[in-house]
Amino acid sequence: MKIGVLCSGGDSPGMNACLRSIVRSATGCGHLVVGFRHGYQGLLNEEFYRNNDGTILMGRRSVSGLSKLGGTILKSSRCQEFETLAGVQKAAEVLAKHQIDALLPIGGNGTLSGALALSKVWDGQIIGLPGTIDNDLLGTDFTIGYSTAVHTAVAAVDNLQDTAGSHDMMFFVEVMGRHCGDIALATAIASGAEIVCIPEMVEKPERLVKKLREIKELGKSSVIAIVAEGDESGGAVALQKTLKEAGNPYDSRTVVLGHVLRGGSPTPMDRVLASELGNLAVSALMQGETGKMAGRINGECTLRPLEECISGHRKVSPERLRLLQIVAG
Ligand code: F6P
Repeated sequence: MKIGVLCSGGDSPGMNACLRSIVRSATGCGHLVVGFRHGYQGLLNEEFYRNNDGTILMGRRSVSGLSKLGGTILKSSRCQEFETLAGVQKAAEVLAKHQIDALLPIGGNGTLSGALALSKVWDGQIIGLPGTIDNDLLGTDFTIGYSTAVHTAVAAVDNLQDTAGSHDMMFFVEVMGRHCGDIALATAIASGAEIVCIPEMVEKPERLVKKLREIKELGKSSVIAIVAEGDESGGAVALQKTLKEAGNPYDSRTVVLGHVLRGGSPTPMDRVLASELGNLAVSALMQGETGKMAGRINGECTLRPLEECISGHRKVSPERLRLLQIVAG
């Protein structure tokens, strides 16, 4: 079997570990693997990953030492052409031209939507892999990169807490998460932030200011608010302004962590998850599966239909929200 692999959309820490697992799982069973550079765009442009000697078939050595590397050696991109039927049909022709039997796209919601569209016009096998820091996909409890993003965010907030404490002030810290507040919520719980603003929960500015006044009266000199980029407040910069106008009693600053969260060496959790799912995807191909995403639910490896995985966005768990309210008071 000849398997194509690509990373598409926003990169996430662990994509390389996933590629390493795919290549070693597949070649160990005698299958051939080629990588496309720059995601679906590279597929359309027939842009193959090349080893140092110029060859395109990936072997064990092509992925040596990749577990700990952030980013993706395959490179990634967002591809508008692939959002059109003509683009998807062209991709099917390219795959047929190069006699590729199966494709393993690693990425988030957009990548898996593209995979689903391709599965309707191409008769090869497709198994998607959840590679995004956002943890917003259905069909898996955790996406590859989420653990690292939270780790990075918590380290940044730990630093900001020192400065907030020294200067008796408040920080609004924005983390990524367009549709899902999971990064924000986990960061808030782990760092001991007082406030979290996420897309799943509407907080009125007046209520937040009331809360801040109460916190101040209780003698707390510094405050951290974690804001998901997709929060209805419009993000940390907008929220800081709104609350200032509404009478925030704290002197405040804003820090947008943004793309900082997408980079860095993956945590052991992400490396293990990426390795498990890479191996699962290859096994799924060998069993004739297609049109599914490899995931992990309640500790078990699972294969769920792509339709189901992109049918909505995973929301934060109500238990975690309650936990934040308890530990943050
Ligand atoms: O990978 C998903 C994501 O991290 C979102 O949370 C964020 O909105 C987006 O990527 C930003 O991507 P870009 O690099 O295209 O600005």
